[in-house]
Amino acid sequence: MAVLNIRVLPDPILRQKAKKVPRVDKSIQQLIDDMVETMRAVSGVGLAAPQVGVPLRVAVIEIPGGDEIITLVNPEVVKKEGERVIGEACLSVPGYQGEIKRSVWVKVKAQDRLGRKIRLKGEELLAQALEHEIDHLDGLLYVDRLDGPDKLRKAVPESEQEGL
Ligand code: NI
Repeated sequence: MAVLNIRVLPDPILRQKAKKVPRVDKSIQQLIDDMVETMRAVSGVGLAAPQVGVPLRVAVIEIPGGDEIITLVNPEVVKKEGERVIGEACLSVPGYQGEIKRSVWVKVKAQDRLGRKIRLKGEELLAQALEHEIDHLDGLLYVDRLDGPDKLRKAVPESEQEGL
């Protein structure tokens, strides 16, 4: 395993639409393992492959206090409900946090680390992380979802949001 370099704005890879993974093979599993190690090295909650320079539809999520790492290959939101305004930050936009609207609840379909089809439901931080990481795969960042420029602030260390 290896800790990978996290790309930050204005790296153009963050703005590309990532490609679908045709087959979950050893190289994809290696990428997943490296992404998990990288996410943990920076105490992140989620990480998408474009953030480590790989334009493929792969993401990992680890909710603090949760009991598992969630691996998402080719994830898609199939249902979402509600709307809430929340603080958000991104490992690729260091030093900032913003206030945006996210769904209260989402349902996602994807493949897991072994290529098996999975469906999962998330609310609160997990719903936020799922939407945030899937946005990364479409070349979107939370800063694109701000209601206005006044909704982006310099991060205050003691109030720092979870890095996604
Ligand atoms: Ni992010």
